[in-house]
Amino acid sequence: MNQYIMALDQGTTSSRAILFDKAGAIVAVAQKEFTQLFPAPGWVEHDPAEIWSSQIGVATEAMAKAGLEGANIAAIGITNQRETTLVWDRETGKPIHNAIVWQDRRTAAYCDSLKAAGHEKMIRQKTGLVIDAYFSGTKIKWILDNVPGARERANKGQLAFGTVDAWLVWNLTHGAVHATDITNASRTMLFNIHTQTWDPELLQLLDIPAAILPVIKESSEVCGQTAPGIFSVQIPIAGIAGDQHAALFGQMCTAPGMVKNTYGTGCFMLMNIGDQPIISNNNLLTTVAWKVNGQIQYALEGSIFIAGAIVQWLRDGLGIIRSSAEVEALAAGAPQNEGVYLVPAFAGLGAPHWEQHARGTLVGMTRGTTAAHIARAALESIAYQTMEVLQAMEADANISIKELRVDGGATGNDLLMQFQADILHTKVVRPRITETTAMGAAYLAGLATGYWKNLEEICSQWQEEKSFTPATEQTHRQEWINGWNRAVKAVKSWAAA
Ligand code: G3P
Repeated sequence: MNQYIMALDQGTTSSRAILFDKAGAIVAVAQKEFTQLFPAPGWVEHDPAEIWSSQIGVATEAMAKAGLEGANIAAIGITNQRETTLVWDRETGKPIHNAIVWQDRRTAAYCDSLKAAGHEKMIRQKTGLVIDAYFSGTKIKWILDNVPGARERANKGQLAFGTVDAWLVWNLTHGAVHATDITNASRTMLFNIHTQTWDPELLQLLDIPAAILPVIKESSEVCGQTAPGIFSVQIPIAGIAGDQHAALFGQMCTAPGMVKNTYGTGCFMLMNIGDQPIISNNNLLTTVAWKVNGQIQYALEGSIFIAGAIVQWLRDGLGIIRSSAEVEALAAGAPQNEGVYLVPAFAGLGAPHWEQHARGTLVGMTRGTTAAHIARAALESIAYQTMEVLQAMEADANISIKELRVDGGATGNDLLMQFQADILHTKVVRPRITETTAMGAAYLAGLATGYWKNLEEICSQWQEEKSFTPATEQTHRQEWINGWNRAVKAVKSWAAA
């Protein structure tokens, strides 16, 4: 019987399931968008029940599309939107609050107080992270402080915390396994990247009881079997990694110095830095790339909060396009940005600025500005933000990067990819399979179960589809970059005022 690997990719705006065969080819895909909840300005939530129902729904759908049943699935790999925080009752499995999404800014003031109290250096040293509302730790604290009775129940060991991976594992195993993987743990601000354990000092600082925490697994390891009744047979859950880590693996950036950028809801650039954590001097994060066969690899990361989400906002918030695919044609209606810049700081600014209080800003409009200019400025903002992160990464690593491997939805947009290469003045390479996030999770699960023999076997499956080489003259490039820098300056002074 033919066997396949199923990757469950639980992203910020949609749940996806992708089936891969032994050659690394996609056999079937199913995807479902789910509801984004904005209960207050700066707050973003998801309904945990919808995360689960959409994810299991697409898993079943993908199998049906390919005419497969449980027995055809050798293993499941999970990859997920990171940092998004859930707390549920261990007895009933019911969440005590909606999931607080990584973009949510409700704990920004508390983060400011942690900085004011002088904890920044210690937190950066231990976790590799900057203090920001982005990470799970302060979100857990918020739930324990604000849901009546939660702290007491947590202290008694009645509650469980998990990022989305842990929530899926819990549901897939009907509550038998409460586990996360080391990459997801490294995004909580509670995990010590040197000792590779939950950190007691950080737990105490944030007043979070250890009893709430999941067990930490390697990224490529069988952590449980699906419960009877979920599929027609029990299937091993054999790989877990946060989506950006999975994408780095799927892009086969397995040697130090290799870099990928994923264009999803946000944009996340990661560089493999080998088996020693380097703490950034340029406001990047140090994170666990993965742990496989007992071997840990670290990465430097630049997190950009709004990338593809800006296109969604043009569609749903502004209504100037009907579908995301229309953005390329609309933007092409403006061959130049004509001084219009959109800084999409809807959820604050991430790397390298880390300005929690920044907000989205459109500058440089004249009476001649049209929807086309706004669409163009929106697309360009993705490329400019990527440029800022690449510059920081090059400064940290003290190297000039030869090529940037790209993946994610927006990489299908040739206009954007060419502009990206022009602005970076670096070659941009798009692989044949741009579903590298799911691919990485599949590889991690397949390696743990012997579906694929070793790294060499899967490395040979990565292939370039198209590369974009810089075409713009330096003077133009510098002018455009100056315009962007000016716009960011305006955003920062607004945030500080
Ligand atoms: O850190 C957040 C990130 O993991 C979300 O990824 O693909 O849903 O934008 P994505």
